[in-house]
Amino acid sequence: MKKPSKPIPPLSGTAWQNNDGILSPLWLEPRGYHYRLREAFDKAPVGMAICSLDSQILFANQRLCGLTGYSESELRQLPPEQRSLPSDLARESQLLEQLLQGNVENVSLEKKLLRKNGHFLHVRKNMVGLRGQEGQLVSLIAHIEHLAPRKEAAKPAAAQIDSFASTVIGILEAERKRISLELHDEIGQSLTALKIAIKRADEHAQNAEAHEALNQARLITEQLMHKTRTLAHRLRPAELDELGLPAAFCSCLNKLVLPPETRVFFEEQLADARFSPEIELCCLRVAQEAITNALRHAQATQIKVELVFEHDELRLSVRDNGTGFTPPTSSDKRATAGAPSPLGLIGMRERSLSCGGQMLINSRPGEGTEILLSFPQPQKRA
Ligand SMILES: Nc1ncnc2c1ncn2[C@@H]1O[C@H](COP(=O)(O)OP(=O)(O)OP(=O)(O)O)[C@@H](O)[C@H]1O
Ligand SMILES: [Mg+2]
Repeated sequence: MKKPSKPIPPLSGTAWQNNDGILSPLWLEPRGYHYRLREAFDKAPVGMAICSLDSQILFANQRLCGLTGYSESELRQLPPEQRSLPSDLARESQLLEQLLQGNVENVSLEKKLLRKNGHFLHVRKNMVGLRGQEGQLVSLIAHIEHLAPRKEAAKPAAAQIDSFASTVIGILEAERKRISLELHDEIGQSLTALKIAIKRADEHAQNAEAHEALNQARLITEQLMHKTRTLAHRLRPAELDELGLPAAFCSCLNKLVLPPETRVFFEEQLADARFSPEIELCCLRVAQEAITNALRHAQATQIKVELVFEHDELRLSVRDNGTGFTPPTSSDKRATAGAPSPLGLIGMRERSLSCGGQMLINSRPGEGTEILLSFPQPQKRA
């Protein structure tokens, strides 16, 4: 007769933690269910770690040791700041906060993992909360997947999508440039001719009423000339090609009309690096929309714009101290029937994806907003 099988002990946070939340005797006992679990953990083909709620590694598997170049005991002693770049760490702790507050069940981000030899690897990190018997979070499980091999396999399809997207953006930008020149050359010159004609007519006008009407016509023509020039300029910011990103940012920020209590700060660390025209234009357009949103929707009194190139990554951050909001998820359908859908955030995201960037919105009602755009290994200007 078949022996009834032993019930499998529940998988809970306490399976790998003792009372201090550190090591579990069950986890280390060389037989039984938990030990087999430990073996599966150790031999998993992705990096895995069990961490305390403040991100300290308690266990790391062999793959993670291989990826980082550290032994498991070294990883246990390594503070989180020595495994990540400061910008990734900030992003990670924001996501972790959402996990700890119970807003989400798991979080995921792409980041750079610092290796023992000082180099870094591009990885995807997923984190899941592990609950104790009372349902409270007791520790975290992290899966760390090295992205380079995966990206290698996906290269042909990704290259096709990239080249299609950059062709579309290229065509759009070329068309904008053409419309900009048409506006400047055709309409601008016709308006100049109209202004001269009005002036001549005014010289021959016989009475005060005619002078008054022609003066009105001259004013309207001058306003139209100004609007046309502004529109032509907005379609293609000339500073971008001629002077580069920081100058184009300064020029765009100088033209902002701000409420008296609002300040905009700009900081750049690009060290004169230049990127493909699509990436530079994307940074400028995303920053313009993010600033416009902060002014329109957030009642922000401070907007900080940062543009940094370090560790082969270009990052743009636009942070405001305004009202904040709940960022839409991809399944959100916010448009109400009959009303046009807002395009700003969608356009920013699509523009970023089309030139290899990733956009993140960090915001919560009452806590301001940060728009983060990053380009890992951005294409440089030829
Ligand atoms: N910085 C911000 N602070 C507070 N709320 C914001 C911020 N940015 C966006 N929002 C919210 O997200 C919504 C969507 O923004 P989005 O830019 O997509 O559209 P919009 O600004 O309303 O319209 P448009 O299509 O003209 O850009 C906004 O209506 C606003 O409610
Ligand atoms: Mg908008």
